[in-house]
Amino acid sequence: MRVGVLTGGGDCPGLNAVIRAVVRRAERGFGDEVIGFVDGYRGLIDDEWMPLDVGSCRGILPRGGTIIGTSRIQPYMFDDGVDRARATMALHDIDSLIVIGGEGTLSAASRLDSEGFRVVGVPKTIDNDIGGTDMTFGFDTAVQIATDAIDRLHTTAESHDRVIVVEVMGRHVGHIATWAGIAGGATVILVPEEPFDIAKVCDSLHRRHAKGRYASIVVVAEGARPAEGTFELAEPSLDEYGHQRLGGIANVVASEIEARTGYETRVTILGYVQRGGTPTAFDRVLSTRFGVEAMNAAHESDTGKMVALDGGVVVRKPFADCIADLKVVPPALLEVSHTFTA
Ligand code: F6P
Repeated sequence: MRVGVLTGGGDCPGLNAVIRAVVRRAERGFGDEVIGFVDGYRGLIDDEWMPLDVGSCRGILPRGGTIIGTSRIQPYMFDDGVDRARATMALHDIDSLIVIGGEGTLSAASRLDSEGFRVVGVPKTIDNDIGGTDMTFGFDTAVQIATDAIDRLHTTAESHDRVIVVEVMGRHVGHIATWAGIAGGATVILVPEEPFDIAKVCDSLHRRHAKGRYASIVVVAEGARPAEGTFELAEPSLDEYGHQRLGGIANVVASEIEARTGYETRVTILGYVQRGGTPTAFDRVLSTRFGVEAMNAAHESDTGKMVALDGGVVVRKPFADCIADLKVVPPALLEVSHTFTA
């Protein structure tokens, strides 16, 4: 049997570990062949691919990024995109396609599957916002990077009696901000799930500073927004795929804090450093487990499903059960974060 694999959307630590696991399971477990489509769905549409075998995957387990490239291109962006993708599948005699991606990539995967492509999904994103799975790989690495950064920012903030506003990724949800904020002992954590009132943020800082502490860390997710009627924010511009270009909310929050409290305030935007580099041990293991199970499903032609972590066990779930809604930070965890902040 021949299986195609592609990685779509933003990159994420652990993609190579999934590819390696798929290839290993295919070759050594089943005697199947794997080819990798280059730059996500673009390679599938343009028939650009590379052979993948155990030899070509040697050494990639700890490497960040994806050896087969990624893009945000999808077949449904073009009138003939699906037909061209189908032609590529037929040309290479591909039985099933393993699609490793986030919300957008998996939605397209689900649609392709319903149109006769046999597709298995693997959920990835540092944002951890895919439904149906306890965790996506890449998230643990991003949280560790953000926590390390916050630890470092504490000492410089304390030395200078400053407030430091740290911006982390999290387009629609605040998993990274909440986890890194709790782990890093932040004074305030701002997430998209809870529109914030800047006056209350300043009250929290006042209360803390009134107790003799002069340094604070405010963690803000890039997608956090002020509550209606508090203050106005300019609408973000759109990129070529129609996604809002986020990044920069920390600057707005910092200047409001400084203006309202008089505390000297600085900004650190972590940006793409959260997505680059080597995955943590947890992410390497999760990626490997997902890759093996995705290949098992592909070999069994058990398609139209996504592999997922459910209560610590890797399972397969229909796409429809996973992509309908984004996974937000559970209220119970927000409550824990409020115990130490706000
Ligand atoms: O992959 C998710 C993510 O890292 C978001 O947190 C972020 O908003 C987005 O990707 C940025 O994507 P791009 O690579 O298009 O700038």
